[in-house]
Amino acid sequence: MNILGIESSCDETSVAVISNDKLTANLISSQDFHTKYGGVVPELSSRAHLQIVIPLLKDALEKSKLKLRDIDVIAATAGPGLIGALLVGLTFAKGVAYSLQKPFVAVNHIEGHIFSGFLMDEKPEFPYLALVVSGGHTLLLLVESFTKIVKLGTTVDDAAGEAFDKVAKMLGLGYPGGPKIQKYASLGNPEKIIFPVADLKDKYNFSFSGLKTAVLRHIQKNYVANNPIPEEELYNIAASFQHAVIKALERNAERAIKNYDVKSLSLVGGVAANKALRDALTKLAEKYDKKIIIPSLEYCGDNAAMIAFRGSKLYEAGITSGFDYSPFPGLSADHFA
Ligand code: KG4
Ligand code: ZN
Repeated sequence: MNILGIESSCDETSVAVISNDKLTANLISSQDFHTKYGGVVPELSSRAHLQIVIPLLKDALEKSKLKLRDIDVIAATAGPGLIGALLVGLTFAKGVAYSLQKPFVAVNHIEGHIFSGFLMDEKPEFPYLALVVSGGHTLLLLVESFTKIVKLGTTVDDAAGEAFDKVAKMLGLGYPGGPKIQKYASLGNPEKIIFPVADLKDKYNFSFSGLKTAVLRHIQKNYVANNPIPEEELYNIAASFQHAVIKALERNAERAIKNYDVKSLSLVGGVAANKALRDALTKLAEKYDKKIIIPSLEYCGDNAAMIAFRGSKLYEAGITSGFDYSPFPGLSADHFA
């Protein structure tokens, strides 16, 4: 059984192949040119996906020692994401499936992340808690099986990754902000500035917009506009901000660990690449004697391996989509309870 996965929801074009349960290719092309605009420009993103998706498919097949006709199932990200970008991968995937007369599976991007731990040798055990921390989402989920996902909490405003990107912008560090904040934070004191972490009534929900404003107020209060902030202070702000985000994620995850009888904890999504967050959640899991699964870096950010894997599980469960599948109006092929 050979499964082709295609991802194009934002600024990564990716094509992967899973052949007889083994990942044989996971090619990722990152659109670095958005850096000069300070964020992703949707139209430019769509065009870049269009230019690269066919060469990536050719390389992925070659790497897997397969011909296109050997593909049995085609899976593609159907949302959420930038609509123009999504449509490139989705329409291409449907075209390939139609030409081969093979099944097409629409995959929810978040579900791709949720199960990305299964790409590792050590896999999550059901039921498990998934903490999805990406540029667009911050979710705490109880994952009971491949078809039952219960949402426990979500962000009520900004996603954690978005907060990383916005704070990086305030500090003049550029886009994408996550890796830059991590680098600066590693040189600073996380306890230098106490930034507030919202604790909501709905105890598994998150809020990061107040934290973002607190960083802005701190900068406005302490530094003269248009004058560079001293390097040492940039390190301390980055470290203190990162510390506050980690505290919020850790706190809600700990509450869920105490209240749900789970076997494992899985930290996934682009922000799961953050070293300090990985360390904090590993410690938390150890404290409660839970197995911790955090994907390696290539599976934290957007990638097609997770889409191919999720597609294979949906296909096994008998779930496929028609060639007329459309992500409009706002559908994103999710299976949340
Ligand atoms: O999952 P992802 O690649 O795309 C979405 O589905 O949103 O996540 C991208 C997010 C960006 O906000 C980026 O700044 C953040 O992940 N990120 C990080 C790190 N690497 C990427 N945040 C914190 N620390 C990192 N090392
Ligand atoms: Zn993502």
